[in-house]
Amino acid sequence: MIIVFLGAPGSGKGTQASVLARHLKIPFISTGDMLRKEVGNSSVLGLKAKSFMDQGGLVPDSDVISMIKERVTQKDCVSGFVLDGFPRNSVQAKAMDRAMMEINKEVNKVVYLEIPQAVAIDRISGRRVCKKCRANYHIKYSPPKAADKCDTCSGDLYQREDDKQETVIKRYQIYLEQTKGLVDYYQDRLVTIDGNLPIGEIEKNIGDKLKVAVS
Ligand code: AP5
Ligand code: MG
Repeated sequence: MIIVFLGAPGSGKGTQASVLARHLKIPFISTGDMLRKEVGNSSVLGLKAKSFMDQGGLVPDSDVISMIKERVTQKDCVSGFVLDGFPRNSVQAKAMDRAMMEINKEVNKVVYLEIPQAVAIDRISGRRVCKKCRANYHIKYSPPKAADKCDTCSGDLYQREDDKQETVIKRYQIYLEQTKGLVDYYQDRLVTIDGNLPIGEIEKNIGDKLKVAVS
């Protein structure tokens, strides 16, 4: 099963896609997490990507497409995977289709998390991420048990560089201009979910629509 999560910055893609992947026992693949790791390692890709990410823009298609092709053709992806943050525009969606066709697979479902802009901005401003395992928290809506420490691995929590207000507004604009149109591109496999509900309810609704047991 190959599942793509689509939605605005802050819509809950990372939160829900990682949980669904765990239920399905297939890899959770987030291009944002992969790129942040490259930035952290100061790799050639990371140094290049940083300048785009800090401005709230998209990293060039050719770099992201090569990175994702390399990842999804690894052995652990043979039974499927859950994608968060890719594809981000029609060039990436078409490249994904071609890459999947070459290995006789296709994107099966696209989960679109719908939320109002004000909710997305509020969520992003309270987000904290674990430096070690990259788990997501929210200071109000899903706080860690101990302040600034990850529940799972005790890693330190931090605020993402691109979560500053002016960068968030830019990211949202890019989403409207380049990514939201993928809702039409994937119309035949689209599963629209109300993202403006508590985390557990959304998890259940996604499970119901995809017929995946989530409890
Ligand atoms: P990326 O990391 O993908 O960021 P994004 O799309 O902007 O999305 P976010 O991670 O901000 O939000 P989310 O939907 O995952 O929400 P989350 O679950 O964390 O990309 C970052 C950058 O990398 C891009 O700007 C670009 O530069 C580059 N990039 C990445 N992919 C690329 C690509 N394919 N091509 C080119 N460039 C690329 O939730 C947000 C917060 O809300 C959390 O604190 C969470 O705990 C909380 N929360 C979640 N759900 C709920 C709920 N239901 N109720 C209350 N709180 C909730
Ligand atoms: Mg995310």
